[in-house]
Amino acid sequence: MNALLRTKSIAQVMSQPPDEEGHHTGLKRVLGARDLIALGIGAIIGAGIFATTGTAAAGGGGHVGAGPAIVISYILVAIACGFCALCYAEFASVIPIAGSAYTYAYVTLGELAAWIIGWDLILEYAVGNVAVAISWAGYFNSFVKGFGIHISDKLMTATTTSLHEGHGLAFNFPALAIVLLMTVLLVRGVKESITFNNIVVLIKLAVLVFFVGLGFMFVDTANWSNFAPNGWKGIHGAAAVIFFAYIGFDAVSTAAEETENPSRNLPIGMIGSLVICTILYIAISLVMTGMGPWNELGTPDPMATALEIVQKRPGLSASSAKLLSFSHFVVTVGALFSMTAVLLVFQLGQPRIFFSMARDGLLPKFFAAIHPVYQTPHVTTILTGVLVAGAAAFMDIAIVIDLCNIGTLFAFVIVCAAVLLLRYRDGRKSDSFIRPYDLSAYCTLALAVALTIWGITTPSHENRLTAMVCAPIAFWVGLAYRGLPLAPGRPFTAPFAPLIPMCGIVTCVWLMMASPFMTWVRFFVWLVVGMVIYLIYGMHHSALNFTSPAQPPDIGFGKPGEVESTPEP
Ligand code: ALA
Repeated sequence: MNALLRTKSIAQVMSQPPDEEGHHTGLKRVLGARDLIALGIGAIIGAGIFATTGTAAAGGGGHVGAGPAIVISYILVAIACGFCALCYAEFASVIPIAGSAYTYAYVTLGELAAWIIGWDLILEYAVGNVAVAISWAGYFNSFVKGFGIHISDKLMTATTTSLHEGHGLAFNFPALAIVLLMTVLLVRGVKESITFNNIVVLIKLAVLVFFVGLGFMFVDTANWSNFAPNGWKGIHGAAAVIFFAYIGFDAVSTAAEETENPSRNLPIGMIGSLVICTILYIAISLVMTGMGPWNELGTPDPMATALEIVQKRPGLSASSAKLLSFSHFVVTVGALFSMTAVLLVFQLGQPRIFFSMARDGLLPKFFAAIHPVYQTPHVTTILTGVLVAGAAAFMDIAIVIDLCNIGTLFAFVIVCAAVLLLRYRDGRKSDSFIRPYDLSAYCTLALAVALTIWGITTPSHENRLTAMVCAPIAFWVGLAYRGLPLAPGRPFTAPFAPLIPMCGIVTCVWLMMASPFMTWVRFFVWLVVGMVIYLIYGMHHSALNFTSPAQPPDIGFGKPGEVESTPEP
């Protein structure tokens, strides 16, 4: 039991030991604030806005459509991600280490939770990339079609889909090829990949701003008249889908060890990229649903569909028709570039999580190897590339997106909870007389009361479940933070804790509750497989078997300042 709950201290995490040959296992620090904002935008804007917005607005895949109210879904998810980004930023500034949420869990919740999160993050990074690669292949197909090139269905269809429909063996060749190409680029070096990313980000921003400007001229406000055709249910369902469009700001934290002045630059990178993308998403979804009827946008390429709908309007001048057909081409190229950048950043992130886990002994040591010339974690980069490319060649996109969303939301919940725990633990050790949390603690108690009332009165099953899970936690947190002394200074702190991290937990749980039942089943199966691997391998090879773990987190009640001392094992 002790093994499962043992934690690493921040000092331990920050001073990684040299490897057997005496080399320090660090990566090259080359990234500045601008690189990180670009890295964030590179990871955020991709298949989500270019592909899933349509079905989220029109409905499909087990969800009813939000209609033009998809704008509200985008705003709500941005708020949820904002809460989480603040928590990520706090952790990233305290522990600027490659493992992201995995490392944060290790110093607060213990080794088992850290392993679960590391395992869960595979759903975000690797499985997310499978979805993006499949979407990329779809856009690539329409791009080459524009030049009269036809790719055989046998080379464009997922193996599972082809077999299911009785068409024999097939695989998605473009999806496989693009992932392998990214892998080669990433083994060569981060700085080169980042230069590529910076250029691609400029292109994608230009394309999206162009779409908003052009689309704005063709908005017909009549299309907004039935604003929320399926009410809150539609908005909630769409929010759970378009959450995919926001995934990625947290990927910035995986580049922590390659960042100059990480305590300052990581928060800027995460929050900056999130704000820029939110503004763009709101503008795009508003314009898109204004260009055509919401129920006609449910295609894999909704922006192109919106342009086609406008092209069919009677009385369009010849020059407008020409401009619109050119825009169609621009959007396709923009989508390809955007998704390439997402692939790049996620392929950058996943190996760094494996790398951290291997360095901690939870995965075999060769995972933590660094290339002698390029100084990149080449073993994990190649392994991730091969696995993602293989899965992209044979899997179906809808399943993959839902799984990626639920896994990422779970990681966000853990990061918010870990911030609460870390502050609480530090506060109880502090002998400060300053009590900065009181007002926020009372607001958290008020949130708990509001959640309880909501849970009792709401007709929605999902809302009730959210309230049932979150209200007791909010009560506990509110009570625990009353009278808590100030934690030692951090380079960056999430404002108004504990309320903001608690709101992060509530909003993410609410989004998770909108996932289809089968997604929950797949998610649990994934976690159980991870647990088995930990019990068989990680627990016995953990680096903490050979060093003293940090004092276990103090999560009990008691007077602030009174900390039970736990003997070193
Ligand atoms: N946010 C990323 C995308 O939309 C995952 O492609």
